Amino acid sequence: MADTANAIRFILNDQDVVLDQVRPEQTLLDFLRLERGLRGSKEGCAEGDCGACTVLVGRVIGDEIIYDSVTACIRFVASLHGTHVVTIEHLAAKDGTLHPVQQAMVDHHGSQCGFCTPGFVMSLYGLWMRDPQPSQRAVEKALQGNLCRCTGYAPIIRAAQAISTYGAPEADPLRAERIALKGRILALNDGRRVEIGEGAERIIVPASLDDFAEVYEQNPEATIVAGSTDVGLWVTKFLRPIGPAIFINHLPELKRIAENDSEVRFYAGVSYSEALPILQSYFPAMEELWSRLAGEQVRNMGTIGGNIANGSPIGDTPPALIALGAKLTLRRGEHRREIKLENYFLAYGKQDREPGEFVESVTVPHLPAGERFAVYKVSKRREEDISSVCGAFRVFVNDARSVGMARIAFGGMAATPKRARAVEAALVGKPWSLETIEGAVEAFAQDYQPISDMRASAEYRLLVAQNLLRRFFHESTGGQVRLKREVA
Ligand code: FAD
Ligand code: FES
Ligand code: FES
Repeated sequence: MADTANAIRFILNDQDVVLDQVRPEQTLLDFLRLERGLRGSKEGCAEGDCGACTVLVGRVIGDEIIYDSVTACIRFVASLHGTHVVTIEHLAAKDGTLHPVQQAMVDHHGSQCGFCTPGFVMSLYGLWMRDPQPSQRAVEKALQGNLCRCTGYAPIIRAAQAISTYGAPEADPLRAERIALKGRILALNDGRRVEIGEGAERIIVPASLDDFAEVYEQNPEATIVAGSTDVGLWVTKFLRPIGPAIFINHLPELKRIAENDSEVRFYAGVSYSEALPILQSYFPAMEELWSRLAGEQVRNMGTIGGNIANGSPIGDTPPALIALGAKLTLRRGEHRREIKLENYFLAYGKQDREPGEFVESVTVPHLPAGERFAVYKVSKRREEDISSVCGAFRVFVNDARSVGMARIAFGGMAATPKRARAVEAALVGKPWSLETIEGAVEAFAQDYQPISDMRASAEYRLLVAQNLLRRFFHESTGGQVRLKREVA
């Protein structure tokens, strides 16, 4: 067992924080507002949607501190061990001089009632540090997770694009502080496991991946908390206790991405944002899906492992990963086993995972040359919305122009993410033609009996699935997309 410490330690703005009493459910937003009196970060939704609570969390990666925007309402205090938290209160100088991001917002009239403004400023600060001259698209992406109901977004985008006229990131007053902080942050990550409390109040922050495997095998009843973009809502919306809880989002070994000639392996703690550059290079079709997955703060927090492990029928990564033939590595203590991702989802709320076993990594084979692959997300809102239907298609059309292989998987169509085996069978061996597609769409009804819920009716879901196959065919052959619009 690793050496143990008994306090969560992090830096909040310029103050050291040492907490030897923390509840597993304590959120960063409550801590800031109720315990530290830092009320600049606002609570709008308490579910990661509106961005009013946005703060930056910095971790030392390599030689630098990298800051991510996150939503403090669903981020737990215990997950902050070894980080630097920057809130809106830290931006203006001690004499009241506004930070370039704040001044740009003032001068461009980027605020009316002001409730959302601290969140926007923090998101824009995060963007400006990594992209001082952002395109409009880059600003829009950075602000997908910030909602404003009175100013309108145009002035805010204008402000975002003007920040660098008020100063360069290199001259940022907070930059010198960050350089000085690096050593202090590294010292906090001293290789010891942190343990606080007992029973349902117990918090464990493992020292390493092996330590996590050991502690979870011994405490299989504990809740694993990775990015907390699901678990956070269990607490804020359902008032559900989560202790004992094991916090894993700090573990560098779970943030690895390993590539070789035939496959790419994402360890479970890789966030959506961290995965994107690699995914994009191997599977360009994933970019569109990724840019519509939640908002930036949730993409910075949520992990691939969490999106799979939770077994949700409407998670966005499983359909694409199943179509690509991904394998899952599950680990319990020192024992590992590998299964096909599609076999992990057994039934609604039931996955092939033993007590004490966790998702260690997901391995995705490269797409063989000549195969066509696409993934489509259909949701009520274009951005920051959960899928009504998410479909992934992978087909190999051979030299004789017939379908040599088809793998199709959907989310939102069944109680689990699921392959469309009847549709696949209706395609394989047939010419890659509209006639074949029109014959195959009927088979969706054999594969799926979707439900009607607040996101979509069963009829709509079936029709969308059929239309997505048509769309995939037309896009892959360069033809015009003509979709059926009637719902019976
Ligand atoms: P956590 O919340 O930490 O954990 C989720 C579950 O997985 C828990 O049961 C936890 O115990 C378990 N778990 C986590 N890691 C492991 C592991 N390594 N091994 C075993 N069990 C583990 N999802 C989408 O698919 N598409 C969206 O567009 C989308 N939009 C969202 C928007 C908002 C505002 C929010 C708050 C969430 C959204 N989500 C969306 C859901 C969410 O981002 C994901 O499900 C996320 O991937 C979960 O990962 P996490 O690391 O945050 O998991
Ligand atoms: Fe809305 Fe946190 S309060 S995202
Ligand atoms: Fe009022 Fe944005 S300024 S909500």
